[in-house]
Amino acid sequence: MTDARLADLADRLPNLRLLTDPADLEHYGRDWTRRWTAKPLAIALPSEVAEVQAIVRWANEHDVAIVPSGGRTGLSGGAVAAHGELVLSLERMNRVLGFDVVDRTLSVQAGMTLHAVHEAAKEHGLLYPVDFAARGSCSIGGNIATNAGGIRVIRYGNTREWIAGLTVVAGNGELLHFNRGLVKNSSGYDFRHLLIGSEGTLGVVVEATLRLTNPPPPSQVMLLALPSMDAVLEVFALFRARLSLQAFEFFTDVALRHVLAHGAQRAIEGDHPYYVVTEFDADEAAQEAALATFELGAERGWISDGVIAQSEAQAAALWRLREGITESLAPHRPYKNDISLRISALPAFLHEIQALLEREYPHFEVVWFGHIGDGNLHINVLRPTELSDADFIAQCEHVTKLLADTLQRHGGSISAEHGIGLVKRPYLGCTRSEAEIALMRGVRQVFDPKGLLNPGKLFE
Ligand code: MLT
Ligand code: ZN
Repeated sequence: MTDARLADLADRLPNLRLLTDPADLEHYGRDWTRRWTAKPLAIALPSEVAEVQAIVRWANEHDVAIVPSGGRTGLSGGAVAAHGELVLSLERMNRVLGFDVVDRTLSVQAGMTLHAVHEAAKEHGLLYPVDFAARGSCSIGGNIATNAGGIRVIRYGNTREWIAGLTVVAGNGELLHFNRGLVKNSSGYDFRHLLIGSEGTLGVVVEATLRLTNPPPPSQVMLLALPSMDAVLEVFALFRARLSLQAFEFFTDVALRHVLAHGAQRAIEGDHPYYVVTEFDADEAAQEAALATFELGAERGWISDGVIAQSEAQAAALWRLREGITESLAPHRPYKNDISLRISALPAFLHEIQALLEREYPHFEVVWFGHIGDGNLHINVLRPTELSDADFIAQCEHVTKLLADTLQRHGGSISAEHGIGLVKRPYLGCTRSEAEIALMRGVRQVFDPKGLLNPGKLFE
């Protein structure tokens, strides 16, 4: 170790895995944004909580910033280490710690992937219901840090609803246990909820107790083609009133084109501007209700075409049309927006924003998709090949400011589920008031007095 600080860390923790190879620094220092050049000091891969505490204490003594790191599938730069930070990867802390059949809780280390959590819950005949396409790579700790949402929020809510307890290493290295799995607890501030969505700025989540639930009843998956965004909203209201929805997701023909070019199979012929994938509980009565609802939507001119999956394989193929979008767009290095509004505010907002995007992005390909049933839209802008990264981002940031101002007027949020990180930091003030941001800074000061945990993320 040529760096004296790292030599001291290695002395203190002789069994700690520490990586300093350029390839490792690059791999662990970036996330899916790919906008920043990774430049961490080193990568620490602790295998137990005591090591995490010792690392945080060491960081305090040497004034080294720490970037807590999960699967680094984030899309806002929240896990980027570009300024000589120590990346603290929870990757090796990926075990189930216990299952309680009475409480119906699963205790896990923070480095478990979401997919591994799903499998562990399944072994006990239960469900951890938060789900999204990055399930195989993202970690439960990262999900907690961003209050991740995904494709089932309409039925089950965000990560926040499923966290019964958290074990956290605070900025001074102290170990804190929040809520300890209690269902009811009216004993003062619930710090668990402060940590959820704090993007690694208040503490390092090392363990979590997750609530589990019954697996959903059998379901049916339907793909619909629709003539307009207004129709998407009408069909959502119609389906939600008549069926028990598990998911209601939309995407545009532009998104479909990319996902088909990436290997997905077309399920509806013809050109249609909008599509919806919806999943709903499917007993016999629901099947009839689904058909009747579909026919009603078609009669009213809101649905142009549709297919219903006849097998699990077909259901998976329909879901691929929606879940494959992110991967199919990745080669275009999209500028991503992850915005949310109250569902009631969507029609007026969409009216305004569609005009704004057409005006501001006349030469850019703009791809809309997302969790319309939760009021969460992803607006991805693709970089034209002739434009440099810097020029492209500058143009997108100009438009994002206009978007953020519009959101503010309609009472929306600049980040629904990806987090603020580095990408959305300039726009936090459009979603949170100055007084709120001052309170956030104050809370941060209490948890992490030296400001060493993920500095620069969320706010400067
Ligand atoms: C999604 O809904 O597919 C995810 O949030 C990822 C993305 O926005 O690209
Ligand atoms: Zn999403």
